[in-house]
This record gives sequence, structure tokens and C-alpha cells, in this order.
Amino acid sequence: MAFTAHGDNWSGMTTNKDQVSIRSFVFPDDYAEVYDLWSRAGAGLHVGRSDSPEEIFKKLQRDPDLFLVAEANGQIIGSVMGGFDGRRGIVYHLGVEFAYRRNGVGRLLMEALEQCLREKGCLKSYLLVTKDNLEAIQFYESSGWERMELYIYGKELG
Ligand SMILES: CC(C)(COP(=O)(O)OP(=O)(O)OC[C@H]1O[C@@H](n2cnc3c(N)ncnc32)[C@H](O)[C@@H]1OP(=O)(O)O)[C@@H](O)C(=O)NCCC(=O)NCCS
Repeated sequence: MAFTAHGDNWSGMTTNKDQVSIRSFVFPDDYAEVYDLWSRAGAGLHVGRSDSPEEIFKKLQRDPDLFLVAEANGQIIGSVMGGFDGRRGIVYHLGVEFAYRRNGVGRLLMEALEQCLREKGCLKSYLLVTKDNLEAIQFYESSGWERMELYIYGKELG
């Protein structure tokens, strides 16, 4: 499958018939559809308090162009949320509708996000995957992401 990228327009074919295009997430119009997709994506995508409309709106004040959706036939079939803090990139909530998996949609979303991060001057990006999420591990390792032997620390601040 060949995908093309022209500036901000990413598009390609999946299942030989559906045209897939990548665009920025639009708030609030896309919120319910994307939240629904996340909720049905499986255990690898944890939906939490940072996914409320208020928190998503807050996130979009910073990186509105790094939250991407994939569309086919007028339906959102995948999404990914990126961030850039001026030093490193971060990837959250990559998810593709079950019916469209293994058709290159996840790869297309990640290629588009990686290009957006590159254009902002980002030299390296991180992402988090739970140890039991074998499909995501295989997905990322098949597209150049390397596992880092580090502990991830977290602290609740709010
Ligand atoms: C991970 C996910 C986003 C992949 O999306 P996708 O559109 O199916 O992935 P692609 O079709 O672009 O896959 C590209 C390559 O990744 C690898 N890959 C993807 N899914 C795989 C799986 N289930 N098992 C093994 N390899 C896989 C393959 O090498 C694949 O190429 P191929 O189909 O030509 O063999 C999707 O499975 C998903 O939404 N999972 C649930 C949510 C989740 O866990 N997200 C990650 C959070 S960290």
C-alpha cells in the first residue's frame, strides 16, 4: 500500500477501496466520535480523567496540530495525540477501529505525526506501551521504535 504526503495532506488507500485521509482533530466536533473510538479500542488504550472535554481542550491550547484523526467514508477510523515540549515528543492514544486494523492506518497516522514533530524541530520522541500490549509492541517495533530500558515514574499532581 502506498501513502502520499503533500504538506499537511496525508492520504492513502486501505482495503483497496477506502480512501483514508489524515487531518487535525477539531474540537468539539470530533470529540464524541474520537472518545467513542478510544473507549472501544481495547485495554491497550486507557481512557482516563485527562480525556474529559475540559482536559482535551486544555491540551489543544498547546499542540492543536499534533492531535490527528484518520478518516474514511466520512467516519473517523483512527486517531493519535502527540505533544512536543520543546525538547522531546510524546505520543498518546494511538487507536484504529477494529474493522480497519492491519491496513496501514496506524502506520499512516504515526508517519504523519512523526513528520509534524520533525517539522517542529523535535529530535526524539517517546511513547508508553503496557508490557502486555503485544500488538502495539509489534506495531511500534516494526516501524523503527526502540524499547528503552528505563523505569517510567509518575506522580499525581491534581
Ligand atoms: C496498535 C494499532 C494502533 C495498530 O494499528 P493498525 O492500523 O492495525 O496497524 P498497521 O496496519 O499500520 O500495521 C503496520 C504493521 O505493524 C505490525 N502490526 C500491527 N498490528 C499487529 C498485530 N496485531 N500483530 C502483529 N503485528 C502487528 C505489522 O508489521 C503491520 O504490518 P503488516 O500488516 O503489513 O504486517 C491497533 O492495533 C490498535 O488500535 N490497537 C489498540 C489500541 C492500542 O493498543 N494502541 C496503542 C497504545 S500504546
